[in-house]
Amino acid sequence: MKRLTVPAIQRRKVEGRTQEPLVMLTAYTARQAQLLDAHCDILLVGDSLAQVIYGLPSTLPVTLDMMIAHGAAVVRGSYHALVVVDMPFGSYEESPQQAFASAARLMAETGCAAVKLEGGVAMAETIAFLTQRGIPVMAHIGLTPQAVNALGGYGARGRSQEEHAKIISDGKAVAGAGAFSVVVEGVLEPIAISLTQSLDIPVIGIGASAQCDGQVLVAEDMLGMFDRVPRFVKRYADMAGLVSEAAARYAEDVRARTFPTAEQTYQPK
Ligand code: KIV
Ligand code: NA
Repeated sequence: MKRLTVPAIQRRKVEGRTQEPLVMLTAYTARQAQLLDAHCDILLVGDSLAQVIYGLPSTLPVTLDMMIAHGAAVVRGSYHALVVVDMPFGSYEESPQQAFASAARLMAETGCAAVKLEGGVAMAETIAFLTQRGIPVMAHIGLTPQAVNALGGYGARGRSQEEHAKIISDGKAVAGAGAFSVVVEGVLEPIAISLTQSLDIPVIGIGASAQCDGQVLVAEDMLGMFDRVPRFVKRYADMAGLVSEAAARYAEDVRARTFPTAEQTYQPK
């Protein structure tokens, strides 16, 4: 199987519709990428690794070096899915030139095929600058976690007429600027549907709508690694339960000296 390309992903939307929705999950490690790769069209090395891997309170402290280390691991662990790496807070907002330098490092040092950045109208010029220079960009609008301090929290967006209109114009701006796809997070469903119908690029939803051209979730959320998850997460496994149970059994064996046994030890010949 050949790795999916950016044009192949973009082509999935024909005449305003995606026949088969795009499947996207986050991945931060090589082994996780190996396990998810066969099932996904896109693997996202999300800056959500802040909370998921590093126990940070938000995505704001994530650095380019962190994204590069995890991005390279995910590229090494996958061969089918398109790998997209998040541009961390502070690495692209200042100017198109700053964004280009950061994105070029991400692509050169990880081997990923595209980057993702948060923002709509305000980032349109940057998106155009990058795409015109060979860097495919996935945009991210609606609830944009890097803007948590400006938004005042992680609640759903688009409840006021003003906010609704802003999300629609953000979608139009990023598509117009050349983004090959856009993530729409945490918006009222009618907004997600209207974006999906009006934009000619794939609209990938999270906390959005089943009508979107694809879906993305944080893999650890979907796998049940956490007790508290946003309303839009569906749990497909109880990884937290499995890990706790296995650790408890291991601890019991160690304390009872019933591990290791002859099977796990080396004896002289
Ligand atoms: O960082 C992330 O995991 C994301 C997705 C949830 C879209 O940006
Ligand atoms: Na992100």
